[in-house]
Amino acid sequence: MGEYFTVSYGGTFGFRRQDLMDQLKAEIALVLHVHSLDNFYFSCRTCYKFSVGFVLNREKRYSTKEIKMEISILSTSGGKQLATLTVDPNSTLKELKTQIHRLKSHLYPDRQEFRQEPRGKGLDESKTVAALGLKDKSKLYLKDLGPQIAWKTVFLTEYAGPLFVYAWIYTRPWLFYGEDAASQPMSQVSHIAAICWVFHYSKRILETLFVHRFSHATMPVRNLFRNCAYYWVFAAYVAYHVNHPLYTAPCQIQSYIALGFWTVCELGNFSIHWLLRNLRPPGSKERRIPRPTKDPLTLLFNLVSCPNYTYEVGGWVAFTAMTQCIPAGLFAFAGFYQMVIWAIGKHRSYKKDFKDYPRGRKAIIPFVL
Ligand SMILES: NC(=O)c1ccc[n+]([C@@H]2O[C@H](COP(=O)([O-])OP(=O)(O)OC[C@H]3O[C@@H](n4cnc5c(N)ncnc54)[C@H](OP(=O)(O)O)[C@@H]3O)[C@@H](O)[C@H]2O)c1
Repeated sequence: MGEYFTVSYGGTFGFRRQDLMDQLKAEIALVLHVHSLDNFYFSCRTCYKFSVGFVLNREKRYSTKEIKMEISILSTSGGKQLATLTVDPNSTLKELKTQIHRLKSHLYPDRQEFRQEPRGKGLDESKTVAALGLKDKSKLYLKDLGPQIAWKTVFLTEYAGPLFVYAWIYTRPWLFYGEDAASQPMSQVSHIAAICWVFHYSKRILETLFVHRFSHATMPVRNLFRNCAYYWVFAAYVAYHVNHPLYTAPCQIQSYIALGFWTVCELGNFSIHWLLRNLRPPGSKERRIPRPTKDPLTLLFNLVSCPNYTYEVGGWVAFTAMTQCIPAGLFAFAGFYQMVIWAIGKHRSYKKDFKDYPRGRKAIIPFVL
């Protein structure tokens, strides 16, 4: 049943209307503990006052004393019964995870994922038992995600590795190319490439610490080894070739044009990260439709869903052109391949989750993919 509400909001001019609406919708939904608001409208009453109205579809709330029910928790692998929980319809999946943790101490909440089918999609832990349509004696499947590690730790380890590996090879050529290497002159491009590389990974570390607002606190620990191997080995492979005494740099004009392109891509990548940060209120897991701001580098959002990946790939293509080095090109290609897969997935979820998602955006390459 929809209920109709109007509220007044005092705001200052300077917002783009769509930004304001998205922000208001999200904030009101947060205060009312509902997922989203329908039929939201906006009108400008006076210079400084806006009026908004919306239909609120509230989930039916039950008295917690009213009903108690038993839910069977089965393992996704083999369907083995793990526990039977006594819950009420208002219990969230997050609360169920805490109950399971009390029964099985190794299954801490971040390690658990609930599903309605053994191979189904992971359920949102903020959903209540009633919202999922579960009744007395219903079944829920639990996937053990394995030991977890904090996302920030993963990112910092992943990015600190390539930074130090590259800097180590660059500053100590005699360790890798023999005693004579230290006395041989290094090309200017090798110096510029080292600065670009160190800058890029320092930026990523700082963004991980101070910019990104992640929605997941942890990830499976096994991913750490895979991701670190990828970044660390590639860093050594690229650094070994670009700093080699026999390395031949391309002509200066090519390197400088590529350096200019690389700089724009780094700035663009940062602009998108900053925009995404401002899209999510602190401490929330909210996802909104990203739209360009006044920053011209965010205009790429008109064309693709993941412009940060577009800029990232552009940066590595520019690095490859600047150094004219095959290992750098292979690294750019590997990153591109991975980011295409992620961008397609994110693009699909945007289209699925937001009915008003802008048509015409591609995933990562404007007009193409
Ligand atoms: N060279 C390579 O191989 C490679 C590969 C991948 C990434 N990277 C680099 O690492 C950067 C970060 O990668 P990523 O995969 O974490 O990027 P991402 O998925 O675009 O996310 C960046 C941050 O923005 C948040 N976010 C994304 N969409 C949002 C939305 N609609 N509303 C609110 N917040 C949103 C994310 O939170 P969530 O926690 O909810 O996702 C995350 O904190 C990339 O931009 C790229 O520069 C490089």
